[in-house]
Order: sequence, then C-alpha cells, then structure tokens
Amino acid sequence: MKTILHVSCSPRGAASESGRLSRNILGFLLQAHPEAVVVERVVGGVEIPPIDADYATSQQSLADLSQAGSMATSEALIRELEAADIVVIGTPVHNMAVPAALKAWIDHVVRARRTFNVTAAGKVGLLRDRPVFVAVASGGKFSGERARQPDFLTPYLRAVLGMIGLHDLTFFSVEGTGAGPDAVDLARAGTDQALAAHFTRGLARLGAIDIHAQVHGRRPSTGSG
Ligand SMILES: Cc1cc2nc3c(=O)[nH]c(=O)nc-3n(C[C@H](O)[C@H](O)[C@H](O)COP(=O)(O)O)c2cc1C
Repeated sequence: MKTILHVSCSPRGAASESGRLSRNILGFLLQAHPEAVVVERVVGGVEIPPIDADYATSQQSLADLSQAGSMATSEALIRELEAADIVVIGTPVHNMAVPAALKAWIDHVVRARRTFNVTAAGKVGLLRDRPVFVAVASGGKFSGERARQPDFLTPYLRAVLGMIGLHDLTFFSVEGTGAGPDAVDLARAGTDQALAAHFTRGLARLGAIDIHAQVHGRRPSTGSG
C-alpha cells in the first residue's frame, strides 16, 4: 500500500489555488493507486514554528541534543517524509520564492547528519529518492515568454530537496491568478490539460503500475506558462 504525503502551505485554506492544483494531482495519483493512504501535512501558523536554538546548535556540533522543541518536530516531520512513497507539495509563490511556512518545513526536514551529510565532495542526501510533484500558484507569470519576474522557487526546491536525495521532481503551475477570473479560468484549463496529458500518458503506457517510472527524469512541466 502506497503512502502519499500532501504538504500544503497556502494561508488561503480551502480557497487556495495551489491547494486546488495539488488536490487535482492527488486525484490522478489515487486513480493509479486507489489503495493509497494520503497523509495531510498543513504547514504554517503555529503548527510548525521556525527552528529553535537547540536545533540550530545541532547543525554545528555532534553533541547528543535534546529531543524537545524543534528537534522533536524535525524528527516527526522527517519520519513522515521518509514513510511517503510519493510527495505532493502545494505552494503559492510569495515574494518570488517559497512562502515562509514552507521554508519552515524545509528547515525541519533538511537536517545535517540526519537527511544529508557534509562530505569533502559536498553535501550528500540520505533519503531514498521518490516522486515529488509540486503544484505552484502565482499571481503573475514566472515561466514562458510572458514571464515578468525571476523564478527562484523552482530552482530552489530542486536544489534543496536534491540535497536530501529527492531528485525526481515534477512541477505544474497555475500562473497569473492576479489577472482576473477569465485569465484564471484559462490558466487552470491549460494546467488541467497538461496534468491529464502527463498522467494519462503514463497510465496508458504502464497500466497504472508504476508512477515513479512514469515521471522519472521528466523536465518540469508548467501548464500555463
Ligand atoms: C505575501 C505574498 C507575496 C506574493 N508574492 C508574489 C510574487 O512574488 N509573485 C507572484 O507572481 N505572485 C505573488 N503573490 C500572489 C500569489 O502567488 C497568488 O495569489 C497565488 O495564486 C496564491 O496561491 P494560493 O491561493 O495557493 O495561496 C504573493 C501573494 C502574497 C500573499
């Protein structure tokens, strides 16, 4: 039985565009794996506070540190991530990057000597690779010819998740949500089409057996770019 971890971080709750997109991705994944269990991890607010002094110290020393505070939160979040066969992250763009809430989750799961090691050759990820689908919503466009802002979010997530061993990332986006309802409908339609094409292609080829093989090595797909 597969476990799908759904990480969502929009402050807009049920109205969230990235949440809508990540739920659509979950829908396709559940078609392929009807028996899968979805674990919901909502980040933000007081649930996942920023890392504390104990945790920050642990980055510097090998001492046996307290499991209270951030260390306990970090451990719980890492175990949740380790237990997942597939990860779906729903995120808005906030000030050209990931929201602070998602950054807090990243700071907890990207932990020296736990999810990555520092070696002479650089940082080496310690987690088993698995498919990670990222659903991005943005007020303006950050991909394609009509992009009017730099994209720090997708390269950052590739780099930081790659650092802990998660390399198999596929991006979908609904861009330009600030442009009015008609433009949003159009952006959603383009992204929904890209999603359907992506998953239907894989399902037809693989008979809904192996989502990992289906997406591995694909370039990021941005539906409305
Ligand atoms: C604090 C804040 C910063 C934002 N910064 C950007 C930005 O840099 N670029 C952009 O395209 N949209 C930006 N937006 C707009 C959101 O990305 C957009 O409304 C998105 O659709 C929200 O997704 P959600 O409904 O999942 O929260 C920002 C919104 C907020 C609240």
